[in-house]
Amino acid sequence: MTILDGKKTSNEIKEEIANHVSSMILKGERVPHLAAILVGSDGASMTYVNAKVKACKLVGFNSTLIELPEYTSEEDLLEKINELNTNDDIDGFIVQLPLPEQIDEQKVLMAVNPEKDVDGFHPVNVGRMALDLPTFLPATPYGIMELLERYQIETSGKNVVVMGRSHIVGRPMSILMSQKRKAGDATVTVVHSRSKNLSQITKEADIIVAAIGISEFLTGDMVKEDVVIIDVGITRVPDATKKNGYRLAGDVHFESVSKKASYITPVPGGVGPMTIAMLLKNTLLAREKHVI
Ligand code: GUN
Repeated sequence: MTILDGKKTSNEIKEEIANHVSSMILKGERVPHLAAILVGSDGASMTYVNAKVKACKLVGFNSTLIELPEYTSEEDLLEKINELNTNDDIDGFIVQLPLPEQIDEQKVLMAVNPEKDVDGFHPVNVGRMALDLPTFLPATPYGIMELLERYQIETSGKNVVVMGRSHIVGRPMSILMSQKRKAGDATVTVVHSRSKNLSQITKEADIIVAAIGISEFLTGDMVKEDVVIIDVGITRVPDATKKNGYRLAGDVHFESVSKKASYITPVPGGVGPMTIAMLLKNTLLAREKHVI
């Protein structure tokens, strides 16, 4: 069994990006600038956004963190988005999800200028992705594709089971893996909360992408020998033995599944760090397309 080391791979990608930034500085070019909007003070969201800002600093990007209170109105958020859309100093930006309930998420995502949409969530960019056109790929699926590619895992003609149909992970993952591309060309099955005979389906899988948001849902008896496991889940599970009162668990029961797997991502240190690295990559791409 080989661990798919997302931390190590993401560090390699960040180093590549940092080298690119160094050469931009030598040429007197403006360095990429990422902005992030965080509404409210959800603990996990704050952790993710802070990690994204820290990663920007590490590779030499400029970053701006905009923190808005939980009670922010939809109108005020849309106004802030418009400011970033028209600010020539910002190459790309993200609005951290989830948003408070008074704000319509879809309206917000549609307000982002698709050319600055480094999360790849705007319908124009989702459409471009589905049609095999160049675009910003959503960072988590992009990170998974990159991990499969860098570990040279064969996907062509393989049975891939994507567990979950979220707009951020499951849906784009199912599209990307079925496309004619590196780490694609697979036969894809999507399962979700209404699927029947789940373990019959997962047992046929050569590769499983678990993104259902239920901790340790996929167990060893549900998979075949030599399966490749990508665990996207990250849930805080109460644990009295930990100083902060919780531990992080994936959607995969690591102990039983890793005994059968040929490759497996750990949680933490698997998909999570790859997501951040690919957000940086998208920001670099946005900078290169942004001529001002
Ligand atoms: N919330 C969970 N994942 C993501 C992500 O990739 N981007 C944003 N903006 N919010 C998220």
